[in-house]
Amino acid sequence: MPGPALLTRRDFVRASTAFAAAVALNRRGVAAEPAAQDALFQNDLPIPPALARARRDATTDYYEIVQGPGRAALLQGRSTPLWGYDGIWPGPTIRALRGRTAVVRHTNALGVPTVVHLHGGETPPDSDGFPTDVVPPGASRMYTYPNTQPAATLWYHDHAMDHTGRNIFMGLAGFYLLDDPANAELGLPHGRHDVPLLIQRRACDSGGRLRYSTHRHLGEEGPIVTVNGAPSPRFAVATRKYRFRLLNGSNATPLQLALSSGEPFTVIATDVGLLPAPVECRNIRLWMAERVEVVVDFSHLAVGTSVALVDEAADGDARWVMRFDVTRVERDDSRVPERLGETPALAVEEGSPVRDFVFAGGPRGFPPVAHWTINGLDFDAGRPIATPRYGDVEIWRLTNHKRFGILGMLHTVHVHLVRFLIVDRNGRPPQVYERGWKDTVALEPGDVVRLAMRFGGYRGRYLMHCHNLEHEDASMMARYDVV
Ligand code: C2O
Ligand code: CU
Ligand code: CU
Repeated sequence: MPGPALLTRRDFVRASTAFAAAVALNRRGVAAEPAAQDALFQNDLPIPPALARARRDATTDYYEIVQGPGRAALLQGRSTPLWGYDGIWPGPTIRALRGRTAVVRHTNALGVPTVVHLHGGETPPDSDGFPTDVVPPGASRMYTYPNTQPAATLWYHDHAMDHTGRNIFMGLAGFYLLDDPANAELGLPHGRHDVPLLIQRRACDSGGRLRYSTHRHLGEEGPIVTVNGAPSPRFAVATRKYRFRLLNGSNATPLQLALSSGEPFTVIATDVGLLPAPVECRNIRLWMAERVEVVVDFSHLAVGTSVALVDEAADGDARWVMRFDVTRVERDDSRVPERLGETPALAVEEGSPVRDFVFAGGPRGFPPVAHWTINGLDFDAGRPIATPRYGDVEIWRLTNHKRFGILGMLHTVHVHLVRFLIVDRNGRPPQVYERGWKDTVALEPGDVVRLAMRFGGYRGRYLMHCHNLEHEDASMMARYDVV
């Protein structure tokens, strides 16, 4: 690989040094605060507004979204043009209820074709946002979400053929929080103490315009870390527990999240639902499109103190994702019960089908162009690479192929429609914060991961792909059909 690979190598070395420094600081019991805080934590955390219902009937809530241009503030004193759902980034949060259908009519007021996908949704095929089902500029399309699955932190984002990376980079992403009224009795923090955090890396030029490049083999990263559209924001909290729904919505930046205090997160949910019981974790690897829900308790902190959310894999300012500032005393009526959701289980039988998928690729030709494949194949909208039977449980074995046995690239593999369990990674159990229902899984170079899933819900045409968006746009995507 030419230039970019070398650059990456340097970045990696620097990132490791920074990580070591942070660990040393924590050992001395000193909060690992950034040296120059002036530029960081200047913006208040934006909370995306809830999308108001256009109307409702006995079974269904109806919503309208217009995809159009908007503006953000990424650089001090500059305004950044973007594309947003309702012109904002992140888009408005859709708060859906299990058992009630949501119908969202999207109108494309942008200059490019778009597609909407509900990531993590058990969605009928005609509403799932197949990349070739594009909505041309000026047109509208209705998407129907039955909301029959368990409560979870879902997100909606663009999925247009060949341009998903650019379209999401420009701002087309928002939360879709599926709640279950039956979960209220758990007593978890709720209302304004239940906060979605969309973490995305961005790059812009000196004029403040988003600078998107498809030319990196690694995919698009950027030096600025944003949360809900604001660079390294601060969030005023009270002395109590909060529920944070963390989503890595970056194109190609894996995160390694920790608290600067060195204290653990209490993890309560994975991609598509509550864990059976909470688990404590100091470090959470959150790769592209993955979600994890955590509870953080600020009750033992003094008013006036702060805790930062740190990305230990990042370099420079991007390490400092955001800061929680304890500003007031508040009574806490919430709790984290010992029992959260059902224990996830799937009946894998002796003859359950096993399928193999190999994720491979790299630069090809001269000058080299990045090209990625699944099982050596390019994406073909007209050809399914697997046809699981409706109702069947299958094992999918994903292999992240190393080039020449040494060079590797990370991939994060997402399967539409289904929720899966990670059986093992390289023969070992998954991380504790991965032992719940998932729809996206991280593969380091050389990893072999086995997933178990049941193909229920609907028959029809779906997708699986790498959620490094530049890999996805460069063919690391495949159609599969439930038959
Ligand atoms: Cu989040 Cu097919 O995507
Ligand atoms: Cu999806
Ligand atoms: Cu990939």
